[in-house]
Amino acid sequence: MQTLILLKPDAVERGLVGAILKRFEEKGLQIVRMKMLCFTPELAQQHYAEHVSKPFYPALKQYITSGPVVAAVLDGVEAVAVVRQLVGPTNGIEAPPGTIRGDYSLSNQRNLVHASDSPESAEREIKIFFG
Ligand code: CMP
Repeated sequence: MQTLILLKPDAVERGLVGAILKRFEEKGLQIVRMKMLCFTPELAQQHYAEHVSKPFYPALKQYITSGPVVAAVLDGVEAVAVVRQLVGPTNGIEAPPGTIRGDYSLSNQRNLVHASDSPESAEREIKIFFG
């Protein structure tokens, strides 16, 4: 099974790309595609379609377009659920220690990583970033 992750602008700015990818690799997931890119406002609208009408969307758009991100496809058994567990809950303040957000984030917006939330989302999101 495959899933999509994005290492968001705060992960790149803070020099945490290697540390975060290492977590996934050590778990046994394989990186099968990877690239660095910058979000345009149009890409933000496409990727975050379900959040466009939410009150936090303007701030989310500002953040996700603020610098380069790393997009990757991870492959492994139950990859969608396993990656979500490794990443932890959205809010870094509530995320438990041992999760990526729990160890490295103090924010519900600047939370370092995006991970597809279902196999359907994974398929849609992998197409957006890798065709
Ligand atoms: P992500 O998993 O990429 O999915 C949607 C993103 O919106 C989320 O991570 C956060 O970066 C951001 N987000 C979600 N909820 C909020 C919120 N209440 N306030 C600000 N940003 C949020």
